[in-house]
Amino acid sequence: MGTAKLIDGKVISAKVLSDVADEVKDLKQRGVEPCLAVILVGEDPASQVYVRNKKLKCEQVGIRSLSYTLPADTKQEELISLIKELNERKDVNGILCQLPLPSHLNEKDVINTISAEKDVDAFNPENVGHIMIGDASFLPCTPAGVMEMLKYEGISAAGKHCVVIGRSNIVGKPMALLLLQDNGTVTVCHSRTKNLAEYTKEADILVSAVGKRNLITADMIKEEAVIIDVSINRNEDGKLCGDVDFDNVLDKASYITPVPGGVGPMTIAMLMKNTVTAAKNQNNI
Ligand code: GUN
Repeated sequence: MGTAKLIDGKVISAKVLSDVADEVKDLKQRGVEPCLAVILVGEDPASQVYVRNKKLKCEQVGIRSLSYTLPADTKQEELISLIKELNERKDVNGILCQLPLPSHLNEKDVINTISAEKDVDAFNPENVGHIMIGDASFLPCTPAGVMEMLKYEGISAAGKHCVVIGRSNIVGKPMALLLLQDNGTVTVCHSRTKNLAEYTKEADILVSAVGKRNLITADMIKEEAVIIDVSINRNEDGKLCGDVDFDNVLDKASYITPVPGGVGPMTIAMLMKNTVTAAKNQNNI
């Protein structure tokens, strides 16, 4: 048994971002300045950090960003009318409303209001439908980031048994679809799955997106499996960790993503890529 190769999200995201920055430069020469509008409602500290990072990344690659920070008691109609206004603006290419929203707001209606061409999260049902049939312009950022990591390492899902743990609309479900699109044989496990280990032991590629520390232990994985850990948890010392018992799985897997520095940096890089795609599509480039 050797030691698994680390799939370095910092290196791979830097490459994506550098390609995005080149594309932005090219677009600007054609008179198009890609622009992302980011909406944050309320003061959730984690959301504040995510939104700040998205703005910083925009700056880094030359994308213009607009931020709208609304109070926690914002009314549904106010939020909807802001989104409609941004839908109409020719200079805004992407619109992102940071989730979760305060509980009095209807997330589904908010997501449905963002026009499909500007929905850089790919959460709108129209875009979800495109992902389902395999002709999407935008892929949801986290699953797309995972696919980019696999591609970078030369790992194809074709003919492999891919096991995804988690069935959220943001990660689990689209992740399963993208692996299927890449010709994997896909199993989706979730909180009601009985005998999780029976499935994980059969996985050539295992993607965990649960949010439970040490959920995946070395005895639960196949020798030489590719392990993708999407979650960001904290251990009792406050240190970031994923779902995988990293130290013990390391000797058994062939590839593994660390936490932090794995999937995390990829998500935001893919958001930048989607924003550029939106700007190109809207300008027929
Ligand atoms: N909250 C957690 N992840 C995401 C994401 O990818 N996009 C948005 N808009 N909100 C989130």
